Amino acid sequence: MKIPTFALEQFQSLWEHTVDYNLTGSGVRAYTLDGLLDDDQPTELPSLPLTYGHTNGSLPLRNAIARMYPDASSENVLVTNGSAEANFVATWGNLNAGDEIVFMIPNYMQIWGVAQAAGAVVKPFHLRPELDWQPDLNELRDVVSPRMKIIAVTNPNNPTGVAIRDETVSEIARLARESDAWLFADEVYCGAELDGHETPSFWGRYEKVVVTGGLSKAYGMPGLRLGWLVGPSDFIADAWSNSEYTTIARGILSDRIATFVLEDGLRDRVFSRNRAILNENLTIPRQWVASQSDLVSLTPPEAGGMAFVHYEPDVNSTELTTRLRQEHSVLIVPGDCFGLDRYWRLGFGSEKGYLMAGLERTAIFLAGLE
Ligand SMILES: Cc1ncc(COP(=O)(O)O)c(C=O)c1O
Repeated sequence: MKIPTFALEQFQSLWEHTVDYNLTGSGVRAYTLDGLLDDDQPTELPSLPLTYGHTNGSLPLRNAIARMYPDASSENVLVTNGSAEANFVATWGNLNAGDEIVFMIPNYMQIWGVAQAAGAVVKPFHLRPELDWQPDLNELRDVVSPRMKIIAVTNPNNPTGVAIRDETVSEIARLARESDAWLFADEVYCGAELDGHETPSFWGRYEKVVVTGGLSKAYGMPGLRLGWLVGPSDFIADAWSNSEYTTIARGILSDRIATFVLEDGLRDRVFSRNRAILNENLTIPRQWVASQSDLVSLTPPEAGGMAFVHYEPDVNSTELTTRLRQEHSVLIVPGDCFGLDRYWRLGFGSEKGYLMAGLERTAIFLAGLE
């Protein structure tokens, strides 16, 4: 199986540790363990045997995840190494050569890449800037067909940070039902909403919905590599079996910490901490964009620590971000990595001073492009 390069992840892997200012993140600055654990910390952590544990995730963790999804039980949950593994095992096990998959653009291009490797036919539908990044429903209705095996959406979306309106969520579920297709909803940014109103899940809209989630974005704990897949129990059993080929099991320490976070009311505390950081920080790119509105523009994100910035200069986004890295040691992600040129994704979840310094250099670079 020849799998295409995952351009976004490779771009970050290659360059993020080589620059002065890495503004490529999409979440919030990460928790430390002592920032997370306090007097109530799980006391058994230091004496926990470093064994494989339950390869599909411990029962307490699967129960805690299931409680976030109405009518779900532990049978509906597979714990994975990050939501990336959840997306991978779900897609890999369910697409064959010639199958059709309808895929949202711009997007995190992981499922797109796995679909290419499987030899599937990928039919895009677009979020439109003129619709404030809502989907073009006419285009979507045109591309769905009885041959469609999967519709894949990311909600809230990466890279725009915008959530699909509720009536559109229902319409997408209706279209999936009409074609008897799987509806894959990557909801890893759920809980990272800046206004504190959690985006309603696709879960429960239709029997063939499969949801991806995890602790990387809304929770600020990407280093735990803790994600999950929620779906019908037979789908989850197959995905568990597929994951025997990827990583076998989830890290036992991550499993225990995640159980602690999701079980004990810590979720609200974590979300509040992250929301406060993101709301405070978002003022920085908004002012930065406003101060040079002849060059850049922005639809403010609703969730996550990322802003999808449109720029005016007539330069390809990969070229622009490569020059910015080489000439000013600042890293931002080219729109090309999400399937849309003339944009870049700016991560604003880091320390404020760091973000401002990176943006100052970016402004100097942009001014020089004129
Ligand atoms: C939409 C989306 N899904 C999945 C992932 C993978 O994240 P992780 O494996 O850290 O949960 C990302 C990472 O950026 C993402 O943006």
